[in-house]
Amino acid sequence: MASAEPSVNFNLLHRTCKLVVVLCFLHISVTVFFYVRSLDIRFAFAQNQQSRDATGTVGSTIGGTRAAEPPPEAEAGGEAEDEPAAGRNLKKCPQTSPLLVGPLRVDFNIPVSLDAVEKANPRVGPGGRYKPKECQALQKVAIVIPFRERDQHLKFWLFYLHPILQRQQLDYGVYVINQDGEETFNRAKLLNVGYVEAMKDYDYDCLVFSDVDLIPMDDRNIYKCFSQPRHLSVSMDKFGFRLPYKQYFGGVSSMMKDQYLSINGFPNDYWGWGGEDDDIYNRLASKGMSISRPSGEVGKCRMIRHERDKQNEPNPQRFDRIAHTRETMSKDGIKSLSYKRLSKETLPLYTKITVDIGKP
Ligand code: BGC
Repeated sequence: MASAEPSVNFNLLHRTCKLVVVLCFLHISVTVFFYVRSLDIRFAFAQNQQSRDATGTVGSTIGGTRAAEPPPEAEAGGEAEDEPAAGRNLKKCPQTSPLLVGPLRVDFNIPVSLDAVEKANPRVGPGGRYKPKECQALQKVAIVIPFRERDQHLKFWLFYLHPILQRQQLDYGVYVINQDGEETFNRAKLLNVGYVEAMKDYDYDCLVFSDVDLIPMDDRNIYKCFSQPRHLSVSMDKFGFRLPYKQYFGGVSSMMKDQYLSINGFPNDYWGWGGEDDDIYNRLASKGMSISRPSGEVGKCRMIRHERDKQNEPNPQRFDRIAHTRETMSKDGIKSLSYKRLSKETLPLYTKITVDIGKP
C-alpha cells in the first residue's frame, strides 16, 4: 500500500504538466492569431490614409506631396490627360465604383490646412466642383451644408469628403450656406437656400444635405440619391453607433430633386436646435415615401465634438410644430422661401453663399 502512493502522485503530476503544455500552446496560438489579424487591420488603415483621385493616382491626403503610382484600369485606355469630360463619348460609370476602399480611419487630432487639402485634390475645380474623367457620372449631386462660424469643422469635412466623393465617381458641387448675422440659427431654411442656389449653377438631379461636423467612416456610404429618400448618417458615434430612433432623419440625408419638390422642400420656420429633421421625416411619410438606409456598418460616422453654438438653443416650439406638419407643409416650404443673398464666393474647395434669412 505504501509503495502505490508515489506512483499515483507521479501520474497526477504528469497529467497536470501535459495540461499546462496544451494550455500554453493554445495561449500562444491565440496570441499569434490576433497579432497577425491586427497587422492586417493596420495595413488596411495605412492604405485608407492614401487618397485616390478619380484618375487613381495615389497621393498623401494631407501632406500635399503626391507619391507617383501607376494609374489603374480607369485611365489605361490612354486618354489625353487634360481632355475635358464633356464632349467625349464616355461610358457610364459603373453602379459600384472600383475606387472604393471601405472602412476609413477618421481622426480629428491631426492638423488640417486648406492649402494642403487643395494640393491633395488637384482635380477638384473652383467652387468644389468635380466630375470623373474616366466615365460619365450616374448622378449630378449638390452637397448642401448649413453653416455658421464652424471653419475648423469645415476644414475637416473638406479634407475627408473630397477624396471620398471623387472615389465615389460623382459629378458633384459643394455648397456652404452661411447664415449671416447673430440671429437664431435656422438649419432647414439654409438647406432650402442651398437648393435654390445650387440649381442656379447646374442641373443637379440629387441633393445631399449634410451637417458640417459629420464625417463618414466608410466610403461605401455613397453620397448620392436613391429611389426613396436616403438617410446616410445611420450609426453615429455620438449615439453609440446606432439609430437614436426609427424615424431619425438628422445629420446627413439625400433626396432626388423631385422627391424634395414633392414635399414642398423643408420648413422655413424652425428657429434654433431640433425638430426640423423630424418635420422633414413627417413630410416624406405623409407623401407615402419610405426611408432608405445603408447598413449600420457602412453607415458609421463620426461627429466632431463641440460646444452648443450660440444662438442655437433647443427650440421649445418644436414639439408643437412637428405635431402639425401635415397641415403646415403645403404653406411653409420651398414655395414660400424668401431670403437675401449677400455674397457668393467661388472658392477652391467649395462655393460659399452668405445669406440673410431674417429672424424668428
Ligand atoms: C430632435 C431632432 C434631433 C434628434 C437627435 C430630436 O429630439 O427633434 O432634431 O436630430 O433629437 O438629437
